[in-house]
Amino acid sequence: MRDLTSDTITGAVISTMRDTKNPRLAEILESLVRHLHAFVREVEPTEEEWAQGVDFLTRTGQMCTPTRQEFILLSDVLGVTMLVDALGNQRPAEATQNSVLGPYFREDRPQHTDGADISEGLPGTPLFFEGRVVNGEGVAVAGAAVDVWHSDADGHYDMEVPGQVDPAMRALFRTDETGHFGFRSIRPSSYPIPGDGPVGELMSATGRSLMRPAHVHLLIEAPGYQRVTTMLFPSDDAYLDTDPVFGVKESLLEAYDTYAPEDGPCRGLTDVPYTLLRHTFVLEPLATA
Ligand code: BEZ
Ligand code: FE
Repeated sequence: MRDLTSDTITGAVISTMRDTKNPRLAEILESLVRHLHAFVREVEPTEEEWAQGVDFLTRTGQMCTPTRQEFILLSDVLGVTMLVDALGNQRPAEATQNSVLGPYFREDRPQHTDGADISEGLPGTPLFFEGRVVNGEGVAVAGAAVDVWHSDADGHYDMEVPGQVDPAMRALFRTDETGHFGFRSIRPSSYPIPGDGPVGELMSATGRSLMRPAHVHLLIEAPGYQRVTTMLFPSDDAYLDTDPVFGVKESLLEAYDTYAPEDGPCRGLTDVPYTLLRHTFVLEPLATA
């Protein structure tokens, strides 16, 4: 443990942790030290660069509040959130795939019944959503808990606009005997991820766009099935290929069909053009031990 060199310090640090009781923690810490040291060997940061890195992480932590999680945002834009999900939730192609949860899910959402209007009167293109939850054999999953939340026509969530009705554009539904759930709201818009913190600096330094494609978030839970955290994007959105959090999957693209008020399945329900979004969600059973 004396006179350590750049060749011996990695093994020395790892050996100090040999009494770690939890074997998984031991594995994680050893790997962390190996990869961190390998990173430093490869990059050879100057002292000033290392101090800048420490300052970046310090400010990332200082940015965090109960409603702003800059570390999760950093994980999102570095692709780590979706990598952890891809490794932990491998599903057959027919099953509904996950995407990021994001910072705007809230436990304090209202529970609504089928067909409710969750827009709370906010302005925008009327959106009708018709969803169905089934298993891999196409059999309806009744009683599934389905959370939905989305942004307004300007790309803001309810809690982001002071004075706006809150909660809005979010609710918890239960599927009926046919696996169906549905609601009315307003069509969400694309919007930028928060760019006023260290993550924003990183995005600007690397010339990346902050804009997420428009989407409706859904979180679906039913006993005996894997939880699905997902979202549906308009298949013609301009930002699908530059999503800053890498959450877009081909299977999560949907036509957000727009109809004149007198046309389509919801004719007569509005006096302005409306959007109809339909999707069937396929749940994967929990792995049995
Ligand atoms: C969202 O879609 O709500 C979101 C996801 C990741 C980062 C920021 C926002
Ligand atoms: Fe979102």
